[in-house]
Amino acid sequence: MRAFTRRSMLRGGAVALPFAALAACSNDEPPKPAFVEPDDERVAAAEAARNPGRVREFQLNATAAAVDLGGLVVPTWSYGGTVPGAAIRVAKGEQVKAVLVNDLPEPTTVHWHGLQLRCDADGVPDLTQAPIAPGASFTYQFTAPDAGTYWFHPHTGTQLDRGLYAPLIVDDPDEPVDWDLEWTVVLDDWMDGVTGTPDDVLDQLRAGMSMDHGGMDMGLMTDGHMLMGASSDLLGDDAGDVYYPHHLVNGRLPADPEVFEADPGARVRIRFINAGGDTAYRVALSGHRLTVTHTDGFPCVPAEADAVLIGMGERYDAVVTLGDGVFALVAEAEGKQMRGRALVRTGSGEAPATDFAPAELTGHVLAYDELAPAEAVALEAREPDRTIDLELTGSMGEYDWAINGRPHDLDNPYAVEEGERVRLRFTNDGHMWHPMHLHGHTFALAGTGLRKDTAIVLPGRTLEVDFDAVNPGRWMVHCHNLYHGEAGMMSVIGYRD
Ligand code: C2O
Ligand code: CU
Repeated sequence: MRAFTRRSMLRGGAVALPFAALAACSNDEPPKPAFVEPDDERVAAAEAARNPGRVREFQLNATAAAVDLGGLVVPTWSYGGTVPGAAIRVAKGEQVKAVLVNDLPEPTTVHWHGLQLRCDADGVPDLTQAPIAPGASFTYQFTAPDAGTYWFHPHTGTQLDRGLYAPLIVDDPDEPVDWDLEWTVVLDDWMDGVTGTPDDVLDQLRAGMSMDHGGMDMGLMTDGHMLMGASSDLLGDDAGDVYYPHHLVNGRLPADPEVFEADPGARVRIRFINAGGDTAYRVALSGHRLTVTHTDGFPCVPAEADAVLIGMGERYDAVVTLGDGVFALVAEAEGKQMRGRALVRTGSGEAPATDFAPAELTGHVLAYDELAPAEAVALEAREPDRTIDLELTGSMGEYDWAINGRPHDLDNPYAVEEGERVRLRFTNDGHMWHPMHLHGHTFALAGTGLRKDTAIVLPGRTLEVDFDAVNPGRWMVHCHNLYHGEAGMMSVIGYRD
């Protein structure tokens, strides 16, 4: 099946080619390095090697409709009319077959965040598939090779900052279960249909700062959609630039929160997903410590903390043993002085006030360095065969975010060879932190070996991550701050053909 070829899309037959492009095709020119295309047989071979199991069918309707966020009804875009969309849940090794029907007024795609899936199902428009036109549908079918907490969202424009997101949970039938209940907790910063749309936000960010605050520290200020002065002891003095009027936990406002009911003493596995556009969340459960068991789907050596900081795109699983009473699960919008929340009720008692901030939020917040991968998922020790330097460039003032100064460069992949151990070296000399995400692979942080697919690169720091090049295709590496990504902080890793 050759449903889509990238070359024909980008240089489309009806478009007149400039002379230089024609010359590049002639036989006299040195050939450009060729990369594995999404429809290459090597992609199909990698999928076959996953031993695709039972096919599980799902229907996804991307739709523009009003959604109730708990006393506030907003016009937005969602999967199936709810925020978050209904979770997709399969067992490891099963195939997800999801039919996306696009009832939005714009083209869309679905990206399955964190999965080591076949490249032609990765959902990146103009890289792995043609955009799905309004009124059209598209069938994604891929094997889910690894258990864990994942999620899906569009990879088109600013659509992620509407209500288009949902969990994707992959179970391991062989995993020893030492919890009684599960709870998936999706965090999101919300403005769509309240103060504007994500497109309005991007326009304003691109237009630049309208206020000159001359480098003075004037505290937290807003100007339209922009937020200034969001400083954080964990992320630096610019923790976020977008003002959101609401912070949601599982699609609910703090005043009318989701209530998770259980018996006292129940052990609960909480799966945290940050689906935000421009907000890191510091999460804590009042009266409890969290035992973190998984990072971005993969098991780690369990570690205890009062709170966990979760960047956009990151996931953490944590186990807690519930006390007796009513407890607030609070997601502090890092640096933004606002919160979202849900409640846990195991007994009688009054719910804490809407703006209650548990002491745990300022207790011990887990750092990457304190975490190690579980033995079963540690990458074997090996020197990298290749190091790719990715400098995170740009600034808030110019809003010219890029990688190595090349904005949105999807046509010149950084080359890798199948079978290599590859190191990505992210260098951040700017003033903002960036949650960097690689598609199609779960890397290991150099040093600890912690397995992740999205990792925070702090201002003034360098972060190195290693992965094994075992999944041929073209894979995005980008900032999961939606607005940084859209502004240009995106590039591609390509497997040499
Ligand atoms: Cu969740 Cu390319 O992203
Ligand atoms: Cu960024």
